[in-house]
Amino acid sequence: MDASPLFAPLTVRGVTLANRIVMSPMTRGFSPNGLPGDDVAAYYQRRAQGETGLIITEGVGIDHPAALGEAGLGENSIPVLACEASVAAWRRVTDAVHASGGVIFPQLWHMGPMKEANTGPVPEALPLRPSGVWGPAGRATSLDAGYMERVMPPTRPMTDAEIADVIAAYGRSARYARAAGFDGIAIHGGHGYLIDAFLWAETNQRADEWGKDLAARSRFAAEVVREIRTSIGDTMPVTFRFSQWKQQDFRARLANDPQELEQILTPLADAGVDIFEASTRYFNRAEFPGSEMNLAGWVKKVTGKFSMAVGGIGINKGYYDSMAGADTVAQADLTPLVERFARNEFDLVGVGRSLLHDPNWARRARLGEPFLGFNTDSLARLT
Ligand SMILES: Cc1cc2nc3c(=O)[nH]c(=O)nc-3n(C[C@H](O)[C@H](O)[C@H](O)COP(=O)(O)O)c2cc1C
Repeated sequence: MDASPLFAPLTVRGVTLANRIVMSPMTRGFSPNGLPGDDVAAYYQRRAQGETGLIITEGVGIDHPAALGEAGLGENSIPVLACEASVAAWRRVTDAVHASGGVIFPQLWHMGPMKEANTGPVPEALPLRPSGVWGPAGRATSLDAGYMERVMPPTRPMTDAEIADVIAAYGRSARYARAAGFDGIAIHGGHGYLIDAFLWAETNQRADEWGKDLAARSRFAAEVVREIRTSIGDTMPVTFRFSQWKQQDFRARLANDPQELEQILTPLADAGVDIFEASTRYFNRAEFPGSEMNLAGWVKKVTGKFSMAVGGIGINKGYYDSMAGADTVAQADLTPLVERFARNEFDLVGVGRSLLHDPNWARRARLGEPFLGFNTDSLARLT
């Protein structure tokens, strides 16, 4: 299989990526007290050495007390961009990646409804939810029953002041990111976390300007993008990840057709997003009836911005269908991916688990070498 189309460079604002392979954000939980150390720097540097065009880090907590809960990873091991010490720690990571010719963006993260009360770096900070609801019960999910029971009782809706505080926190963390030497900013706007909880009608039942209709539900995301854009200037690219599915409901949909998708994403594009990451579990599935095009394809079409496909690249099973089962295997044939890419359906390809297992995945793809077998070890260690 000739993967050479994926190895064309791409310039986005002031940044040139050597190729179209992107390391998809993956939470690891190896940053004690929220500070990445030399092992994390070496882990990302290996992906740069392996010719990954763009590294998007694991989710990084923004400078807001309710940004992070524990997420089952042990006390405070999720990294943050929330203080000078975190800037210094991340500076060592970005220096290492740049020394190997890589490009790296942090994924800015606020868990919103998914933060469990009494967990995370600031346990007493109450979880923030647009309307106080965590989400509907009884939907398809992989979350454990104990967690669901603890988070399900309603809290109070966010106040206007709390909304303004979180937006300002995104701006502060973007400035910390710039000071730490990151090349751009990635925003986590999917998977049922805070920004997504504003986008989704099931978790945003507000009757005000933050939720009264589809356009209002995009307002929080757009204000976050605008704040970040103002904070970092014009040369650093901004990516925005969104998803139809939620951890609260795997079958959820934000947009039922391309027109709704356009209405949801256009305000974000206008606010300064350069690349949309369409988070799906299988990149090669049609999103809407009447066309083979996947979600990333539709995003590119309706916004005119760059888009990234993700889900099951180089691997036969989607995340959640099998985290590490014996029947999960590397898939050498990139033909369906390259065919879609060559049709100009999307601009970038996000690679998650394949790059977790093999830092040299991008180089192997370029050389047409066989991919390594799937292994579980790389989940437990920073390989
Ligand atoms: C261990 C692990 C941690 C993840 N953490 C994040 C995260 O912090 N932020 C995020 O947006 N997605 C996260 N994801 C989802 C991945 O970015 C990606 O979208 C998903 O794994 C599908 O891609 P793949 O099939 O290539 O693995 C995570 C996935 C894995 C396997």
